Amino acid sequence: MKGVILAGGNGTRLYPLTKVTNKHLLPIYDRPMIYYPLRTLIDSGIEEIMIVSGRGHAGHFLELLGSGTDFGVRLTYGIQEEAGGIAQALKITENFVDGDDVTVILGDNIFQDNIGEDVANFRRGAKIFLKEVPDADRFGVAELEGNKVVGIEEKPENPKSNLAVTGIYIYDPEVFEVIRTLKPSGRGELEITDVNNYYVDKMKMEYRVVKGFWTDAGTFESLMRAGILIKENKF
Ligand code: DAU
Repeated sequence: MKGVILAGGNGTRLYPLTKVTNKHLLPIYDRPMIYYPLRTLIDSGIEEIMIVSGRGHAGHFLELLGSGTDFGVRLTYGIQEEAGGIAQALKITENFVDGDDVTVILGDNIFQDNIGEDVANFRRGAKIFLKEVPDADRFGVAELEGNKVVGIEEKPENPKSNLAVTGIYIYDPEVFEVIRTLKPSGRGELEITDVNNYYVDKMKMEYRVVKGFWTDAGTFESLMRAGILIKENKF
C-alpha cells in the first residue's frame, strides 16, 4: 500500500493567511497542518508516501519534511502545476503508486481514528470514511440504503443525509483508469466525488463511519476548531 497526501490548491478561503505560504504549512496548535495527515498515514503502517503540492511551495515541504528519515518513512514529492481538483492532483501520483493500492488523505484533514486495520484489510475496489456532521452541505455527502452507499453528492443544497465524506480514500489501481474518464465539473475541477461515484455504481465501494473526531481546516472556523480539538485531546 502506498500513501498520498494532497497538499496543493490555492487555499483561497484562508486568504490572506495563504497569500505567501501554503495552507498545509500553517500552524494547527503546535505543529504545521501537514504533520497531522502525515501522522495518520504513518500510524496506519504505510511507509512510502508522496506529497503533492503546487509549484510555488514544493520546496518548503522538502525543507520541512526532508526524505522522511526523521519520521521513519520514505517521502517523495509531486508537483501539481495548477489547482485543477483533488482527482487531478491524485493523477500525478500514478507512477509513484505503480500498480499498488493507495491510501489518499487530504492535507487539511485531521483524524483522531487509526486506519491501520482498514489499510491492512483492504482488498479491492474503494473505501471511504464517513462522519456525522451538522453542516453536511459543506462536504461530499453519502446516501446510504441499508449498509450500502448508493450515491455521493458534492456540496448539495439539500443533503440526503448528515454523513460527510471525509478526506481519506483507499483505492485499488483502477482509480487511475477512472480519473482518465473524468470531465471537469461546474467549478472546473476533476472531482474526487466523481471517482467515488464510479466505485459506488460498480458496487465496489465500502465505507466506515469514523469514531473519533474529524475536521477539515480549510476555513477560518474549521482551522480554529482544529487547533482547539487538538489542544483539548492532547492529540
Ligand atoms: O474535507 C473533506 C471534503 O474535501 C470532502 O467532503 C469533499 O467531498 C471534497 O471535495 C473536499 O472538499 P473541499 O471543497 O473542502 O476541498 P478543497 O478544495 O478545500 O481541497 C481539499 C484538499 O485537497 C486541499 O487541502 C489540498 C487538496 N487539493 C485540492 C485541490 C482543489 C489539491 O491537492 N489540489 C487541488 O487542486
